[in-house]
Amino acid sequence: MARAPFVHVNFQPSGGRRRVNADDIVRTLSDEVRAGRLPGGARLPPVRVLEHQLGISKNTAQAAYDELVVRGVLTARERDGVFVAGSSAPDLGSIELRSAPLPRFRSFQLKRSALAGPDVIPLSMVFIDPALLPRDRVAECFRSALNIPGLHHFYDAQGYPPLREAISKRLVARGMDVAPEHIVITTGSQQALDAVCRALVRRSVATENPVYQYAKALFESLGAELVGLRLDPFAPLPLDEWRAVLRATRPELFYTITSFHNPTGRSSSTHEISQILELANELDFAVLEDDWGSDMLSGGEYRPTLRALGGPNVIYVNSFTKKLLPSLRLGFVAGNAETVAPLVAAKRVSTLGNPTLIEAALCELLERGYYDTHLTEMQRVLDGRYQRALALLDQHMPAGVRWTTPGGGPLIWLELPRSVDLGDLQVRLDARKVGIEPVPLAFYGTPHLHGIPIGYAFLDSERLARGLEILGDELRRAQGGSA
Ligand SMILES: Cc1ncc(COP(=O)(O)O)c(C=O)c1O
Repeated sequence: MARAPFVHVNFQPSGGRRRVNADDIVRTLSDEVRAGRLPGGARLPPVRVLEHQLGISKNTAQAAYDELVVRGVLTARERDGVFVAGSSAPDLGSIELRSAPLPRFRSFQLKRSALAGPDVIPLSMVFIDPALLPRDRVAECFRSALNIPGLHHFYDAQGYPPLREAISKRLVARGMDVAPEHIVITTGSQQALDAVCRALVRRSVATENPVYQYAKALFESLGAELVGLRLDPFAPLPLDEWRAVLRATRPELFYTITSFHNPTGRSSSTHEISQILELANELDFAVLEDDWGSDMLSGGEYRPTLRALGGPNVIYVNSFTKKLLPSLRLGFVAGNAETVAPLVAAKRVSTLGNPTLIEAALCELLERGYYDTHLTEMQRVLDGRYQRALALLDQHMPAGVRWTTPGGGPLIWLELPRSVDLGDLQVRLDARKVGIEPVPLAFYGTPHLHGIPIGYAFLDSERLARGLEILGDELRRAQGGSA
C-alpha cells in the first residue's frame, strides 16, 4: 500500500539563532498538536526531509522526534514513519473549493463527423496525404540538428536566426521584401494570427465571410469586434459592397486568405488584390495576408501576393504545417521595422520561444533543398489528384451541385442545393463511412452558402472515387431520387 503523504510544517529558529534546533522542533510540533492544527494520525516529515529542509543533522531531527514520542505527542511506527498520536484516520482539514473560474471564452462545438479509422473516407480533410510527406528526410534533418553545438541550451523568442534567414531568402525570391529580422517564427500560422491580433489590434478585425473558422474563433476569443465581408466563391469580390461595410465599420485590420481561401478554395485575382490595397489606403486599415496555400500551386509557379504588391506594411503569414509535416507546427509572420517588436513581445509572453531543435531541423530541410524537391513532387501528385477530383465530380454529382475550380490548395468548395439538409447528409454519410465537415462556424450568422469543403489532397485516387460516388448517391437520395 502506498504511504500516506506527510504534512508540511514550518519551523522557525528561536532566540535569534539562524538554524532550527531540536528544541524548536519539539516546541513547534507540541504547539501545533495542542492547538489542533495537526490532527491525530497525521504523518510527519521523515527525518531525512527535515535534515534537507532545515540544514540540520539527522541526529538533531531524530532526537526531537524521540523526545516527542516519549512525551506521548507522537508515535513511531516501524517502517511507516512518525505520526501524531491519536486517531489513525486524520482529517487534514480538506475543504472543497466551491468557486471556479468564470469562462470568458465562448466554447464551440464543431459538428464533426463521428468517424475515425482506416476504413473511413474523410472527404473534407484539409491536410495533405501523409504518404506524400518526406518523413525520412525530416528524420535525417533532425539527426543532423541534434548535433549542432550549443543548440540544446538556446532558444530565440523571435525564432532560430538561421531559419529566419532561410525563410527570408525564399520570400525575396518570390518578390517579397522581407528581411530576416522582420520575421517571427511561430507555432503554426495559428500562433502568428494570435500574435498579430494581440500585438496590433485594439478593437476590430474584418475578415471574409466565410473565413477559416479558427481564425474567426481566435479573433473573437481575444475580444476583437468582427466584421464579415461577404464572399461568393463563384463571383468576383463585391468590392463596392465591401467598401460600404468597411467605411461604416472602420476595422483596423483586414485578415484575408488571398490564395486558395479556406473553406472555399477561391483565389483573388491579381487585379482584386490590387483593389484590396487601394481600399486599404482609402479607408486606412492594415492588411494581414494568410498565404497558407500558395506553395500548393502547380508546377512550382507562384503568383504575386499582397505582400509582394503592397510592400512591407502588409503583414504576411505562412506555414510549413500543411505542406510538410502537420506535427512540425512551424509557421511564421513577416512584419516590418515597426511591427516586429510588438509581434515578438506577444509571442514571448505566450510561449517564450519555439523548440529550437525543430526550427533547426526545418532549417536543414530548407537549406539542403529537400523542401523544394518535396514541393515539386507534392505539387505533381496534387495536380493529378485535382484533375481526378474534377473528373469524379463531373461523373458523380447530380444536377444542381456546383463546385469551385481552385487549381491548387487542398480544398474545393461543393455548393449543394438548398433542399439538401447538411445535418441529415452528414448522418447518412457517416453510416456509409464517409466523413464530411460542414463549416457553419466559418460564417457570420446564417450562411449564405450551402455546402461543404472537399479535401482532395488527402485521399488517394481510389478512396476519393469511392467517397465522391457515395456522396453523389446520398445527394440524389436527398433530392428525392433513388440512390
Ligand atoms: C487558412 C488557414 N490559416 C491558418 C491555419 C493554421 O494552420 P497552422 O497553424 O497549422 O499553420 C489553417 C489551418 O487549417 C488554415 O486553414
